[in-house]
Amino acid sequence: MRVGIGNDHAGYELKVDLAAYLREAGHDVVDYGHHDTTSADYPAYGRAVAHAVVAGDVERGIVICGTGVGISIAANKVPGIRAVLCSEPYTAHLSRLHNDANVLALGGRVIGTGLARLIVDTWLAAQYRAGRHARRVHQIETP
Ligand code: RB5
Repeated sequence: MRVGIGNDHAGYELKVDLAAYLREAGHDVVDYGHHDTTSADYPAYGRAVAHAVVAGDVERGIVICGTGVGISIAANKVPGIRAVLCSEPYTAHLSRLHNDANVLALGGRVIGTGLARLIVDTWLAAQYRAGRHARRVHQIETP
């Protein structure tokens, strides 16, 4: 899968780990920055990944800041984005099945790399079930 990834300074270390992990697993990872641990504002990186998803440049996006909160809010401001902040795999799984989440947000200061990898694996593998959920997702898109 072609996956876009973006982060601020607080998400940089987890981004490095996940990008290498995903590439090793055979995914095509597009890195939208930030590229080191110097202070950076998360909205630009959340938006860059979100716009790439909406444009179809990548199939899914992963965004990382300290808590995952700011960057997920920024991503969700882009029409067509359904970003979900996850700290455990159950929500990641259901966010795909029921909500067709197209961006996953993680907190680099909240979870470790082992849990983050499990959440990412779960989220990338899960398929949207549509059916009754399609009506609700459509309602999100047409407020
Ligand atoms: C940066 O200090 C921190 O505020 C940011 O990474 C993120 O956690 C914001 O929601």
